[in-house]
Amino acid sequence: MKTKSINIAVVFVLTLTAIFAGQTKAQSLIVNPALDERVKKFLSEQSGQWHDLNIPEVDGRLLYDLVIKGNYKSALEIGTSTGLSGIYIAWALSKTGGKLITIEIDENRYKKAVENFKKAGLSEYIDARLGNAHTLVKELKGPFDFVFSDADKDWYINYFKDVDPKLKVGGCFTTHNISERSDGRRSSGYSASYLQYVRSLSNYESTLNSAGGGVLISYKRAEK
Ligand SMILES: C[S@@+](CC[C@H](N)C(=O)[O-])C[C@H]1O[C@@H](n2cnc3c(N)ncnc32)[C@H](O)[C@@H]1O
Repeated sequence: MKTKSINIAVVFVLTLTAIFAGQTKAQSLIVNPALDERVKKFLSEQSGQWHDLNIPEVDGRLLYDLVIKGNYKSALEIGTSTGLSGIYIAWALSKTGGKLITIEIDENRYKKAVENFKKAGLSEYIDARLGNAHTLVKELKGPFDFVFSDADKDWYINYFKDVDPKLKVGGCFTTHNISERSDGRRSSGYSASYLQYVRSLSNYESTLNSAGGGVLISYKRAEK
């Protein structure tokens, strides 16, 4: 009896330690094998058919994993295109119980994305909006805990500044097409200024994932 109580106490302490160490988040994922099959089938049928500046598959899987790992529930995507990244994010949100707002300025791409979300069986997890993200992002109330920024690159810093007050502490802001020169010299253009800006913020911790198109992953560690 005494040993059993000690064992329970040890498991409890270890769980708390793991949670506070940020290694894992207490979470229970929603299980829906039928939806998993539908999404997988859609992605496999569409493989090689994404020609509208869509992310590489490896980045899709990265976004999926980040949402699951963080147990994020309130996501924003800037730059839907025809919906590939949105599908990976929304698929993960279908398991955490969350929802995605995604914004696209091009009407044809927006319509195609809405069609793709439906085919993948993910429409109920996505609020797709047609419009200019320069104004729509400012108008959004939030709060968000996951963001994927993948629209006009010269506006990246503005998007970040507009979303930052609406991003929860512990939330994750991801940005696509960010690279660093491998020879150690500074990269140029939007990528360099964006990297320099985000890295100058002491309340964010950023890492660059270069497996695909270059994803800067920035965790908000404190409000300021
Ligand atoms: C790189 S693509 C996005 C790809 C998408 N994330 C995917 O992987 O499927 C960038 C998209 O942002 C859209 N875009 C560019 N400027 C925008 C703006 N100001 N507001 C909203 N969307 C914009 C473009 O029309 C384009 O479809």
